[in-house]
This record gives sequence, C-alpha cells and structure tokens, in this order.
Amino acid sequence: MSKNDKQDKANQAPPITQMKTPKVDEKRFVLTDKVSGNEYELDLLNGTVGPSALDFRNFYSQSKMFVYDPGFTSTASCSSEITFIDGDNGVLLHRGYSIEDLAMHGDYIETCYLLLYGELPSERAKQQFAYEIGHHTMLHDQLMTFFQGFLRGAHPMAIMVGVVGALSAFYHDTTDINDPQQCMAAAHRLIAKMPTIGAYAYKYSLGQQFMFPQNNLSYAENLLYMMFAIPAEDYVPSPVMAKAMDRILILHADHEQNASTSTVRLAGSSGANPFACIAAGIASLWGPAHGGANEAVLQMLEEIGDVSRIPEFIERARDKDDPFRLMGFGHRVYKNYDPRARVLRESCHEVLEELGIQDDPLLDIALELERIAMEDEYFISKKLYPNVDFYSGIILKAMGFPTNMFTVLFAIGRTVGWVAHWKEMILEPTKKIGRPRQIYVGHEPREFQLMNARDQSDQSETKKTDWKWFWS
Ligand code: CMC
Repeated sequence: MSKNDKQDKANQAPPITQMKTPKVDEKRFVLTDKVSGNEYELDLLNGTVGPSALDFRNFYSQSKMFVYDPGFTSTASCSSEITFIDGDNGVLLHRGYSIEDLAMHGDYIETCYLLLYGELPSERAKQQFAYEIGHHTMLHDQLMTFFQGFLRGAHPMAIMVGVVGALSAFYHDTTDINDPQQCMAAAHRLIAKMPTIGAYAYKYSLGQQFMFPQNNLSYAENLLYMMFAIPAEDYVPSPVMAKAMDRILILHADHEQNASTSTVRLAGSSGANPFACIAAGIASLWGPAHGGANEAVLQMLEEIGDVSRIPEFIERARDKDDPFRLMGFGHRVYKNYDPRARVLRESCHEVLEELGIQDDPLLDIALELERIAMEDEYFISKKLYPNVDFYSGIILKAMGFPTNMFTVLFAIGRTVGWVAHWKEMILEPTKKIGRPRQIYVGHEPREFQLMNARDQSDQSETKKTDWKWFWS
C-alpha cells in the first residue's frame, strides 16, 4: 500500500462497527411478590457512566405482569453510545465531548461527523464529509413542485413534515436498510437536504424565488443564504450571523432519547423508510412541550409585553388551576441549568451586541423573567431552570428569522441526532420492533347491541370532553 493510499484510508470515515452492549453486573436483583411469595430475578445492567438499569425484558413472560411507566420517566428504552446527559449536574456530552467544548471550539459539520461516526474527524476527513454533504443539498426538481400544494400561510413545520416524508418516495428503491452504505447515503442526504427544505418553506411563504444551495458556502452560511438571499442582489452571509447559526445548530444536534428521537427510533424499529421516520420525528418535535417551545417562548414574551407584568405571569405559572406554564422553563432530565441554555445565554449577548441591537425589550423581559423565576420558591423547589429554547428564540429573532421558523431550525440541527440514533438502532443486533404494553381500563367484554335495542335518548350522545391543554 502506497503512502497516499495509507493516508486516504486513515482519512476515510471510520468503518461502521457494531455498538457496545451494557455490562451485566455481578449483583442480581430479586423482586418478591409478597402475596404469592413468587420471586423474580432481574439482571442489573451497567453503562459507562450514569444510572444502571434493571433488565425487565423477560419479566412479563415470567410474571404475566407489565411494568407501568407512562412518559418513560424511569424506563431506558435502549442503550446508546451517542449522547450522555447528567441532568442533576447540568452535563451534556456527545461521544464523551462536552457540549461547551463542541460549541466553543468545534463547528456543526464536525459535530455531525462525531455523532454519526463516533470520532472527531481529521482535517481531510472533515473536508471529505463536508464535500459529501455539500453535494447532496439540491432537491429533485419534481420535489420542488410539492411546495406549490401548500397554502402560502401554511406553518413551515407542516411543510417540513410533508416534504421530508415525500423524500421517501424519491429514495425508496435506493434505501435498503440492510445495506450500511445505503443507510449512510440516506443519512447524508437527510442532513444535506434539510436546510434546503426549511429555507424553501420560508421562501414559499413569502412568495419569493427559491435560492439554490451554494457549494462554496459552509453549512450554516448556506442555510442563511437560502433563507435570506434574493436573485436580484448579491448576498454575503455575515460572519457573526454564520457563527451564531452554526452554534445554534451544534446546540440542537442531539439530546439522547427525547420525544422526537424516540419517535424516530420507534418508527424505524418496524424497518420503515428512514426519510419517513425522520418526518415522524419532525412531527413530534413540533409540539410546544418539545421543540415548539422556542416559538412559544417568543409568543409568551410578546404577551407579557412589559417587565412590570412579569409577576402576574409568574403567579399564573404557580397557580395549579391555571394551565399556563412559563415556556422555556423546566426539563424532564435537567434538574439544573440546561448547559445548552448557558452557552446560548452568552451567545445571545454577543449576537445582539454585534448586530448593534442595544436595547431589546424582549431580551429585557427575558432576563428579568429568568432572574425572578430563579429566585422564586415555586421554581426553586421544582428545579425549573431555563432550557435551550428560552434563549434560542431571542437570538433567532434578532437574526431576522420569523417566529414560525424557529422550530424548523431546531429540526434542521436535530436531523443529525435523529439519523445517528436511527443508524444505531438499525445496527443493534438484538433490536426488536418497539411495542409498549398498556393497562386496559375500558369496558369489560359485552354483547353487541342491534340498533333498535340501543338507548335512543339525548343522554346517550357521547359526552364531549373539555380539553384543556396544560401548556396553553
Ligand atoms: N412552568 C410552570 N410549572 C412547570 C413548568 C413550567 N414551565 N414545567 C414544569 N412545571 C411544574 C408542573 O406543573 C409540575 O408541577 P406539579 O408537580 O405540582 O404537578 C412539575 O413542575 C413537574 O412538571 P412535569 O410536567 O411533570 O414535568 P415533565 O418532565 O413531564 O415536563 C416539560 C417537562 C419540559 C414538558 C415541562 O417542564 C414544560 O412543559 N416546560 C415548558 C415547555 C418547554 O419549555 N419545553 C422545552 C423543553 S427543552 C427543549 C427540548 O429538548 O425539547
């Protein structure tokens, strides 16, 4: 092998290896049913760091009982090598590297490489990867016509769900999930095409021409270019904006088994087309309790309108009978400051300063809200700290993005996390289709009634439920 061949080999993407499995501890656990006296032995599984887990996989076959855990508050649905979160101490690591280091010293494209392949790239490997991603950014001409089917006022997340799902129709025959090379090609296509789809959703809402991706621009620059350039003028993305955009993408790149990533894994566990699985993830992300919170934060800050009204809203958030929640506060896993929010808090000031925005009333409200909430007994006792969505909305607004595009940008950044988890799940040798169980609380078995035997009075009409969405 020549020196160049060796160098080429060294710079290639690492081979796709089988993932590690958790170690079975020497200790075993015994669950005792005190009524029947039956005992059930459970293995204890250890990861590298973080809590251990009891292995309940054979529990039902032994006991004929399920484990009840709606919302998966205590359930590990898989093992993973990608991301580690220590929510009590506000730690987030990707492949062992802290999010602060990645955001301060790395860039989005190498974060993508790290999440997908497990290691930071060499200079040459990074260039090759950026080239590969850069050469998949265009959309099939036929796919461009899909946008015309949407109303101009359609929410861009609705367009993303539709268009990304439609990608499955374009690449179905070339996406054999049993072929690692085809899987990686699908992963690269998704990472590459998401900014194009997101930007076109925005351009379509404005009635402006779609701007073709430019291969000489970085990932973040290209996204800004496709969003903000128009054919009639030159557009050079500002380095400040590009740096801020890149950092926002890094901070959203992955967050282990959140609702959207778990949705992608669950959809993919049936062997479904990866483009369709990512569309499912986008749908899950859209909700205001998840990625939709960045849009909801801005709406809330606008509704508060003035610093003097903050106590009124804090009071509402504390009131158990009021469904209002402070958007951008609280997290299922972090019971400490969200490390992503800490990085974004700094970026927020930098961006506003560099964009020459001296006084931003919304930022004033946000900072005061944060100060009061962090001194308030209710928020302290419930460990409700600002999360990533609290600051991202303020930065994105300053950068000129309309509010309804915030979650789209989250989705663009998160796509690499989704595909990394999808890939990991596909390669998992013991993978099983995801199939939770339930406790049935409906009617007991009963006989079918013919129409003339049924109650025909008004009371028999199905009662309408008074839906109150708790974060409205
Ligand atoms: N404002 C007021 N009270 C809150 C809030 C909030 N933002 N978040 C949680 N609580 C209270 C909640 O009422 C409950 O009180 P109690 O124990 O008296 O019933 C307690 O704190 C625990 O809340 P929970 O809903 O059981 O906790 P969860 O882990 O199921 O929910 C959450 C996590 C993020 C959905 C929730 O904190 C929330 O709705 N936050 C606002 C939406 C938001 O900012 N979402 C973005 C999350 S970060 C981005 C991402 O990764 O998706």
